Amino acid sequence: TEPLRVAIAGLGTVGAGVIRLLDANGALIARRAGRPIEIVAVSARDRAKDRGVDLSRFDWVDDTASLAADARADVVVELVGGADGPALTLTRAALANGKSVVTANKAMIAHHGLELARAAEGRGVALKFEAAVAGGVPVIKGLREGAAANEIGHVYGILNGTCNFILSKMEAEGRDFAEVLDEAQRLGFAEADPSFDIDGVDAAHKLSILASFAFGTRPAFSDVAITGVRHVLAADIAEAATLGYRVRLVGVAEAGKNGLFQRVHPHLVPLDHPLAHVTGSLNAVVAEGNFVGRLFFQGRGAGDGPTASAVVADLIDIARGEFGPPYAEPAEALAEQPAAPTGER
Ligand code: NDP
Ligand code: HSE
Repeated sequence: TEPLRVAIAGLGTVGAGVIRLLDANGALIARRAGRPIEIVAVSARDRAKDRGVDLSRFDWVDDTASLAADARADVVVELVGGADGPALTLTRAALANGKSVVTANKAMIAHHGLELARAAEGRGVALKFEAAVAGGVPVIKGLREGAAANEIGHVYGILNGTCNFILSKMEAEGRDFAEVLDEAQRLGFAEADPSFDIDGVDAAHKLSILASFAFGTRPAFSDVAITGVRHVLAADIAEAATLGYRVRLVGVAEAGKNGLFQRVHPHLVPLDHPLAHVTGSLNAVVAEGNFVGRLFFQGRGAGDGPTASAVVADLIDIARGEFGPPYAEPAEALAEQPAAPTGER
């Protein structure tokens, strides 16, 4: 059998994690995919950087953008990041050239997901982004496939591992914000620009993607009302604890009488609610379906292993020939939905 041939753009936390996972579990992955997954080319900015994985086996390509036209590759794995710039150029060109794309880039999907889905559907190739929401937690597959037959009333959850790690450490260890942020960055949880994490933008990117799956609406990032955790003090967390609450950054999307209502802000979560027990870099998502009832997804939302796990799961889908629409509905149907009204219940 022919292998699925893959080119990887971006060899940071997630890209190196994908190589480590394919090395460690290659035989199992080949059995489940029905064929081996073979890396044919890799690219990043700095060829000399030590990434803790042996890259000498792969062809290094200096010009990352050229992977979009690399005749050896069936799939481009985009792990560069950023809503626009090189990630978007590469993804657009790869899809236009008839290659499937797997990405962990929630910023790009939140801003351009519909356009890219149309391009993928138009060429009959796959665009997959399980890793873009909640890292290793299969919440997109869960909503897209598992809850496909349900009307969903609301979806909410803890969608940023960096903030949850920071809030958990501030509570458990009484440490201050900056010190804990440094640790989250060292562990590879934070975005290249960590203000995306702490100002709630990353959680809002993910919420807008989730909402689109839950409600069958056009992704509407600009309609999310956002407040981050920058101004949360250790004293606020301690005070909340005396009243029986934990502080968590929560994203909520719900169908209101005026349409979809999306917001991300620090919440006081009662200790008897499951979200209060989501600690460290864990993420969790709750969705209420009209036939399935309450779904609760939880797991590691950031870091190399969990994120690589979601990226490779998408590659396995493609190896098996699963090229369905990227969203729960064809992009054309989503595009026809009215835009969600801003911040109105
Ligand atoms: P890193 O910053 O660790 O890695 C980014 C990689 O992209 C680096 O290898 C870098 O090259 C390369 N790169 C950056 N700019 C360019 C460019 N202009 N041309 C070519 N290569 C470039 O990021 P992560 O691995 O953490 O994240 C990658 C993606 O995954 C992002 O979209 C992120 O949001 C997403 N994600 C990350 C998670 C995490 O826990 N880290 C979890 C879920 C999603 P070099 O190394 O040479 O500098
Ligand atoms: N910076 C993100 C987070 C990575 O902390 O959740 C996972 O998407």
